[in-house]
Amino acid sequence: MSDIQIIPTGGALGAEVRGLDLSQPLSAEQVNRLRAAFLDHCVLFFRDQRISEEDQVRFSRYFGNPVPHVREQPDRPIQEIFIISNVQENGKPIGALGNEELQFHSDLAYMQKPGSISILYAVEAPKAGGDTLWANGYASYDALDEDLKQRLAGRRAIHRHSRPQQNPPVPASHPVFRTHPETGRKVLYVSPHFTKYIEGLGEEESRELLDRLIAHGTHPRFAWRHQWRVGDLLMWDNRCTMHRRETFEDSQRRTMKRTQMFGDEPY
Ligand code: OGA
Ligand code: MN
Repeated sequence: MSDIQIIPTGGALGAEVRGLDLSQPLSAEQVNRLRAAFLDHCVLFFRDQRISEEDQVRFSRYFGNPVPHVREQPDRPIQEIFIISNVQENGKPIGALGNEELQFHSDLAYMQKPGSISILYAVEAPKAGGDTLWANGYASYDALDEDLKQRLAGRRAIHRHSRPQQNPPVPASHPVFRTHPETGRKVLYVSPHFTKYIEGLGEEESRELLDRLIAHGTHPRFAWRHQWRVGDLLMWDNRCTMHRRETFEDSQRRTMKRTQMFGDEPY
């Protein structure tokens, strides 16, 4: 019998999982519990893990097919691992994103088949700053004005990355309200970071509606904050959440190992 404990954060989403050592393979029963808890809570985190890159990839495979990130990084022994870091070695960044503040986004939404699950494992964490916040897209959809829901039902929006070279040639278009393929629940799927405009509306109307949707979806009542500690492994569901990262002092080292999976086209 597994002695996994799933402890909800008490916030808008998320649960801590206790009782597992992710350096070891998991049983089918353990994996089933985690999959169910993940669908319920959208974010799961595990503290005090000591895992190798191989362990992280094995763990990721219980939930899908981890693939190399679309953004190139220098060749690494384990291709599926992408480094998020502000650390420089020999004058060169060892990873992506530096100490930048990142606005709310859903990973890889600028792809026609966006990210489904992302997993970060904290190797180095700053003493202060660099927190990551997640917002619950089910809760924000559910709480949206009936009027707005109806006005935007069936509408699609265009998503682009700010680095032109990271975008596919044909801009990705996704439903403003997508349906999670496993839970069947509706999700508000627009973000300040990637969503550019709503298709089929005038520029002004699109901007006004997007601003309203974004202000609503990023409201603190739908969000939960994680303060990183070394050894945290955290997985999130991009199909029903957005996340943002706060900045931190560049003199502090922050390094995360990331795996990511792609989903199908949102509907
Ligand atoms: C990401 C990301 C947040 C962080 O890896 O997709 O947004 O906390 N990172 O570094
Ligand atoms: Mn991200």
